[in-house]
Amino acid sequence: MSRIAVGEATALADSRIGTERVGARAWQTLPMYTVPHRIETSRLVIRRYEETDAQQLVDVVVRNMDHLRRYMEWIAFEPQTLEQRREFIASTNAAFDSGKDYTLGMFDLDGVLVGGTGFHVRTRPERLEIGYWIDELREGQGLVTEAAAALTRVGLTFTGATLMDISHAASNARSAAVPRRLGFAPHDAGGPEVFDDGNKVARTSWWATRDTLGGEAFDAHPYPRVFDSTNTELTWP
Ligand SMILES: CC(C)(COP(=O)(O)OP(=O)(O)OC[C@H]1O[C@@H](n2cnc3c(N)ncnc32)[C@H](O)[C@@H]1OP(=O)(O)O)[C@@H](O)C(=O)NCCC(=O)NCCS
Repeated sequence: MSRIAVGEATALADSRIGTERVGARAWQTLPMYTVPHRIETSRLVIRRYEETDAQQLVDVVVRNMDHLRRYMEWIAFEPQTLEQRREFIASTNAAFDSGKDYTLGMFDLDGVLVGGTGFHVRTRPERLEIGYWIDELREGQGLVTEAAAALTRVGLTFTGATLMDISHAASNARSAAVPRRLGFAPHDAGGPEVFDDGNKVARTSWWATRDTLGGEAFDAHPYPRVFDSTNTELTWP
């Protein structure tokens, strides 16, 4: 998914939020999503960033600038300092708390930051868009697919949304492979353009609902463990 939030400047985030199909007043009146603060899969801990993650974020993003440049628009604002990264973490968590955007970091079981993911708010109230990027050193291990499967289950069960969207530039074959692998259905949804090598291009979208999901590849991903803001584990219905 495009544009997950690391390094995304406030102005960029605001302009993206401005593309939503609801006006400012509607933001204040529509219900918030209930997004867990921590999700654990067999190989990943997917959680909100904490201030102490700032140095890891600086290091991973700086090391991956060439890897991320083509599809991650926010790379234009990199590299960032440790202090800027602390501010970024505070602003993403504020956006999380106010229901504007839900940024999550992807960590391995040793606590090493391996990438970013989360839910972007799209057409309220039904649709959330799953975004992702991963450290080039961890590409090709199925970690993004594992994260996307977990977020899809969580999104369709706990958040209040009924539709999970994954969208990307048509040329981004590695990104396309993730929803295809999980059994998402291609969908000609239209919507805001996505970033590709300095240009804005039409988005290619994949959708999943509880009715359309299933199949061996998706079912192979076990239900993750899920925790709320008080670190209380949630029970799957
Ligand atoms: C798009 C991106 C996140 C995809 O990452 P990825 O590593 O290819 O995806 P996964 O982690 O799911 O790995 C899939 C690969 O692991 C392999 N794999 C190994 N073990 C696996 C497992 N247990 N389950 C699934 N796949 C597994 C798959 O066969 C696949 O291999 P392939 O690349 O040879 O086809 C990554 O390329 C990236 O960060 N790109 C730059 C940023 C970007 O474009 N973000 C998306 C914007 S829309």
